[in-house]
Amino acid sequence: MEKFQFPKGFLWGGATAANQMEGGFNEGNKGLNIADVLPGGKERYDILMNPGFDFEIHTDQYSYPNHEAIDFYHRYKEDIALFAEMGFKAFRMSIAWTRIFPNGDEPEANKEGLAFYDRVFDELHKYGIEPVVTISHYEMPLHLVKEYGGWRNRQVVTFFEKYVHAVFNRYKNKVKYWMTFNEINSGLVMPIQGLGFSIQKEEDKYGPTFQAYHHQFVASAIAVKACHEIIPHSKIGCMILFAPVYSFDCNPENVMYALREEQLFNYFCADVQVRGEYPSFIKRYFKEHDIELEMEEGDLQLIKEGTADYIGFSYYMSRTEKKVKADSEAAEGNIIGGIRNPFLKTSDWGWEIDPEGLRISLNKLYDRYQKPLFVVENGLGAYDKVEEDGSINDDYRIDYLREHIRAMGEAIEDGVELMGYTSWGCIDMVSMSSGEFSKRYGFIYVDKHDDGSGTLERKRKKSFFWYKDVIGTNGEEI
Ligand code: BG6
Repeated sequence: MEKFQFPKGFLWGGATAANQMEGGFNEGNKGLNIADVLPGGKERYDILMNPGFDFEIHTDQYSYPNHEAIDFYHRYKEDIALFAEMGFKAFRMSIAWTRIFPNGDEPEANKEGLAFYDRVFDELHKYGIEPVVTISHYEMPLHLVKEYGGWRNRQVVTFFEKYVHAVFNRYKNKVKYWMTFNEINSGLVMPIQGLGFSIQKEEDKYGPTFQAYHHQFVASAIAVKACHEIIPHSKIGCMILFAPVYSFDCNPENVMYALREEQLFNYFCADVQVRGEYPSFIKRYFKEHDIELEMEEGDLQLIKEGTADYIGFSYYMSRTEKKVKADSEAAEGNIIGGIRNPFLKTSDWGWEIDPEGLRISLNKLYDRYQKPLFVVENGLGAYDKVEEDGSINDDYRIDYLREHIRAMGEAIEDGVELMGYTSWGCIDMVSMSSGEFSKRYGFIYVDKHDDGSGTLERKRKKSFFWYKDVIGTNGEEI
């Protein structure tokens, strides 16, 4: 078995988001955010993918699993001790914007919220675990959505600037690794969570979407510059959802189609955030879709100056494209679409499993940007079974992760500069796209179920011990 050489200091760990794990949705003066109004169950996916969401809570119709989630808000000490037992070097988490500014537009930050993250960071440092913090992970203040129209409104940039200053100043001695917007490009398919508005009619999507993106790019550049000024030794990255696009066959028309899809979905945001300018290919797209951006003087210069130090990305699947496709060819369940790839198996939720695609992604990204890469999400959402003796034998998860870690090892041999790997959902929590607890990613099982029942007890799965060995041998024992 080939042994891989992961760099010294490689950031092995796990990844989470505040809204999917913390719970305590109305404690500590926290305000409501977008995730708080998203229902549990299959309805959530339809809401995210379709126009017309009202951003209201309907308790008579739905359940809201993010409200209690897995109660990390009260159990963080126990959870961090388990991460430490696995030997985590890094823990990716997000700060809930609404714990710091409950409505988003207050003059002063909320003291209780600031104090909560102090406690979490101190607990991580107690075990030598480096926090990797996402500033905005699908949890924009609901007030900014309802009263201001989300990121379409330029004023939101100012509120975000205030928020980032508050967290950089407060945590400058505790957090070195930051990321701005989680999966920033996902707004191209699901604007609700990332861009903070729901398209009302399909045909209205282009102008508002790209205007909102322009505001996020400006906000991201402001955050990068502020981070470097306030925390000189920091590293702040962008974060994209990367799913390499394959042409279904060698028909040049399909190859060109796949290339266009890749440019728009995978590269558009990263090009702006990493290279510091709008890419040439987007001009034609803007023209064809009648998109005219409103910019303020100095925006383009700011974007040029505030480029990301590294590229954080999530990797779950690849996507196969064909210019003209029949309905029967659709890759049902593959969250970013495409047609079924006959060479790949799928997860229980229809996501295509493609470890080689991770090596391809790492090579593509490094060739294009020559900046350090960080795989900040990857993992298998699966149904787990607790045996009578209490064990959870998740060999399928171990197989999935092993193959993806090997793919990273190969990419490092290919010459790619890789900083770390934080697998998604290191502890079971609420699924982002389906709002289910039964879609489990963790090394740690949480006794919590789709009907809301469960004791919230934590249990180590078989993968817990396996990952501990992986980290302990710096990836040699996989
Ligand atoms: C990423 C998100 O898209 O995928 C996470 O950044 C999310 O928030 C993860 O949880 C897995 O997706 P899901 O829908 O299976 O939870």
